[in-house]
Amino acid sequence: MAGAAARGPRLLPLLLLPLLLLLPLLLLLPPAASTQPELRFRPPAEAPVRLFTEPELARYDGQQEGQPIYLAVKGVVFDVTSGKEFYGKGAPYNALVGKDSTRGVAKMSLDPADLTHDTTGLTEEELKSLDDIFNNVYKAKYPIVGYTSRRILNEDGSPNLDFKPEDQPHFSIKDEF
Ligand code: HEM
Repeated sequence: MAGAAARGPRLLPLLLLPLLLLLPLLLLLPPAASTQPELRFRPPAEAPVRLFTEPELARYDGQQEGQPIYLAVKGVVFDVTSGKEFYGKGAPYNALVGKDSTRGVAKMSLDPADLTHDTTGLTEEELKSLDDIFNNVYKAKYPIVGYTSRRILNEDGSPNLDFKPEDQPHFSIKDEF
């Protein structure tokens, strides 16, 4: 018994040696998954859409080189920058951008009086043509970046009762509001 007790102190460093060698390796291992904080917020895959007042929309009128160009039809704001040859500075349809040009698109008119959201008095044919261009040109070609504030509020600030969020193109409640 006395001999074993005497060997004890000499064995101890030998037993500790493998542990000391393993320690640096253990420090190099990645921390266990449970020690990492859980990622709760995931940013949306696409940029969330915005609500545009008239002055905000007017800033995207194609006059400044390098700025995006936006055009609204039926209160939906499209990024038409890729159609610069139509909408950029000096291009044939530049008058349509930086605003809601629903009426002009419906009537195929660039008359300043028609460059408005107002659809009052449009004919059945013009309304059909508007929907065709809205679906087959704008929705098909250009990304939606937001809506005009008029879609939600009337000019006097009262709620626009025609606005139904669930009817909006690309509507997703968690991204938009
Ligand atoms: C002589 C009169 C006009 C001619 C010859 C003409 C010609 C054209 C052509 C050839 C395109 C197709 C371009 C392409 O997809 O490559 C086009 C597109 C278009 N035009 Fe006209 N156009 C005229 C007048 C107007 C007017 C008055 C408006 C008023 C709103 C208008 C609005 C548009 C729009 C919104 C597009 C779609 C542009 C896009 O793809 O983003 N056009 N036009």
